[in-house]
Amino acid sequence: MQLPAEIRIRTEELADEVAFAELKRAAAGISEAYRAGRGVPLANSTQVAAYLTTRMPGTYAAAEAALRETKQALRDREVTSILDVGAGTGAASIAAERRFQPKRITMIERASGMASAARVLVPEAEVRVDDFTRPPSLPPHDLVIAAYALGESGKLEVLERLWQAAKVALVVIEPGTPAGFQFIREVRSRLLAAGGRMVAPCPAEGVCPMPQADWCHFGARVERTGLHRRLKDAELNYEDEKFSYVVLAREPVSLPHARIVRRPVQQPGLIMLETCTGHAIKTVHARKREREIFRAGRRASWGATWEAGND
Ligand SMILES: C[S@@+](CC[C@H](N)C(=O)[O-])C[C@H]1O[C@@H](n2cnc3c(N)ncnc32)[C@H](O)[C@@H]1O
Repeated sequence: MQLPAEIRIRTEELADEVAFAELKRAAAGISEAYRAGRGVPLANSTQVAAYLTTRMPGTYAAAEAALRETKQALRDREVTSILDVGAGTGAASIAAERRFQPKRITMIERASGMASAARVLVPEAEVRVDDFTRPPSLPPHDLVIAAYALGESGKLEVLERLWQAAKVALVVIEPGTPAGFQFIREVRSRLLAAGGRMVAPCPAEGVCPMPQADWCHFGARVERTGLHRRLKDAELNYEDEKFSYVVLAREPVSLPHARIVRRPVQQPGLIMLETCTGHAIKTVHARKREREIFRAGRRASWGATWEAGND
């Protein structure tokens, strides 16, 4: 997974305007804040350029993965408008635009440098520099997305207004950490209590079966550009973006049998899949002698739905 080529070229052009040493310092500051669970520093153009180069590919990949599952579950339900709050440089809007081809995209972002970059990257969107937790009401759109933003805003109570603005569905994405998942679990139970219907990732609407000591998260593999690698002194040409998410809709959708909640483990003649049925976490053993399940196991991936049984 990579940012779409035209977006990558534009982010590199924006990063080219900043000296490498400054960009590297800013990238280190962003990584440190992200790891510590603090809001990432985005006050100046250097920090925005560092975000574009080192964080946006990962947040784009997470949004793309969550929206792929959303689109699959919503099937042909029409989504013609997108509201992206705490939109940053537009990662989730870019992913949503490609998945849903909406007629209208609105982004709300309080950091003016991030909003300026979003305008360059998604010129067809309306980008408002504003605090999404403050306006009395949010403009109604078919799909509302809060990607890596609601937790950072520190205002879970704004969830109610996000839900009111969502005509079809609401997508909330947070870092794939224990704290990020606890937040998502709380979002999930509040939205279900408000009458929301589960879209993804959960296969059921009851109490989440994930044990308290564990956390439900997914991973999206992101290719690092040369600049990204140099900024992070990284040897690997990829990184895994870990994220937790939940999507609820106004109308029910048909839910899968189970979802794969860990990277599949392969051994000779055996594939082990950790799945969530919505009622329990279960390990599926796909053995070579059970040809159909084994074949499905070979195609299985972390975060995908699982319909083949054997649990
Ligand atoms: C970690 S970034 C995520 C950006 C983008 N959604 C993405 O996935 O790449 C969080 C963004 O939320 C913005 N933000 C946080 N609280 C906000 C608020 N109350 N109103 C508007 N934007 C906010 C920050 O300025 C920042 O750009």
